[in-house]
Amino acid sequence: MKKITIAIDGYSSTGKSTIAKQLAKALGYVYVDTGAMYRAITLYALKKGFIGSEHPDREKLLRDLNKIQLEFRFNPELGFSEMYLNSENVEKEIRTLEVSRYVSKIAVIEEVRHKLVQLQKEMGKNKGIVMDGRDIGTVVFPDAELKIFMTAAPDIRATRRYKELLSRGEDIAFDDVLKNVEERDYIDSNREFSPLKRAKDAIELDNSTMSPKEQFERIHRLASSIINQQ
Ligand code: DC
Repeated sequence: MKKITIAIDGYSSTGKSTIAKQLAKALGYVYVDTGAMYRAITLYALKKGFIGSEHPDREKLLRDLNKIQLEFRFNPELGFSEMYLNSENVEKEIRTLEVSRYVSKIAVIEEVRHKLVQLQKEMGKNKGIVMDGRDIGTVVFPDAELKIFMTAAPDIRATRRYKELLSRGEDIAFDDVLKNVEERDYIDSNREFSPLKRAKDAIELDNSTMSPKEQFERIHRLASSIINQQ
């Protein structure tokens, strides 16, 4: 049976990665979280002091861009791949609210997008991949056989994210999380290069009132029926 490419895009904290991970596992496909790649570059910029009070120093980051090496390494204990930045496991550090605060400002930079899109295309060249992000169905894999676009009401998404951050021990206020979710949606949807938008042939899934199990079953059914037609 031929393998396909599955693109999962959508707004922040819609549960894209949870579904994408489950789907990849069920199909025996590779899972790639492209948000982790933008987050890792943001972490690099923060550590190097390239981000001042509000905005990143674009020139300094661009000078260092080819020194930034990103890699996913499979962790058999967890059953998924973790993000490595210049050979260091940064999986936990890239998920903090601090990284979330700046990541959209790094993701608008054309050269950053160019570098990451090339890497992503390379990772998917043999198909058999589930990739989640913002521009997967529109830019990275416009020919993906299955494209899903996930949405949910902002307060529901912020609540999910708030609970997740609390469970990781972050000391945060709900209003800050909601503000961050709304700000990222705005920047991600309005940037000049490959903004977040639904690909014309993507299936929209509003999961405001759906359980993770329902979402998984729906997407798994869609994927299986396309795979069976190959
Ligand atoms: O999926 P996430 O929330 O971890 O993504 C973090 C940020 O990275 C998101 O706010 C926008 C950016 N991003 C992007 O611009 N393009 C992608 N393909 C994935 C993420």
